[in-house]
Amino acid sequence: MTQVIAFTSSKGGIGKSTLAFNTAGALAARSGAGPVVLVDEDTAIQSCLGWAAAAPVPLPFLVIAPDQARTAASSAAVLVIDTEGRPALADMVALTESAQRVMLPCGPSGLEVRATLKLWHALTQAEAEMGRVQVVINKAPPVGTVGQQARDTLRGLGVKVCTTVIRAYTAHQRAAELGVLVRDVPDPRASSAWADIEALTEEIGA
Ligand SMILES: Nc1ncnc2c1ncn2[C@@H]1O[C@H](COP(=O)(O)OP(=O)(O)O)[C@@H](O)[C@H]1O
Ligand SMILES: [Mg+2]
Repeated sequence: MTQVIAFTSSKGGIGKSTLAFNTAGALAARSGAGPVVLVDEDTAIQSCLGWAAAAPVPLPFLVIAPDQARTAASSAAVLVIDTEGRPALADMVALTESAQRVMLPCGPSGLEVRATLKLWHALTQAEAEMGRVQVVINKAPPVGTVGQQARDTLRGLGVKVCTTVIRAYTAHQRAAELGVLVRDVPDPRASSAWADIEALTEEIGA
């Protein structure tokens, strides 16, 4: 059966596309992994489709538009979904029924933590499959423990949060510009950025 992992959020610019793209790459790099397909559902921005189009070397996974999803899905071992910018709550609830994992990236600031808590409660009230939903802290300062604190605050409030905290590195922005996975960016911090992605992929356990 195809494993479906979705990245979604109620706000844009929080790292859905960045995490979906690199996680797809980390999944594809695993030994014994079957074909990995990334569906770019953000028809307004098309980040992942754009990055794949700019890729200087072939990516280890396929990036497709939603209208191609049905055919591609049948051949994929793992389907990674990068959702549109601000999906309606009902669409997010439906996503928790169709995907085994629904990842909610969240920045480390108090404002972002509160917004994520609000979304978690809204999903709970709407009877989403909360066992499949997990927050991941993204863009944490590499120095200090702000990211870990955000994670632990949310956990203290009953929210499921990945142990892995994704640190903010300019290598992620460079990767998007170059159309490559962050591990392939010529930057001294690229290996640290990739280590975060690998740890997250391991934790998602697809
Ligand atoms: N961990 C990170 N470190 C540094 N920059 C990041 C990180 N995650 C995302 N970004 C940057 O933040 C911006 C928004 O990310 P993106 O993945 O496009 O968000 P979304 O898909 O949620 O709108 C992009 O410029 C991206 O390069
Ligand atoms: Mg995006």
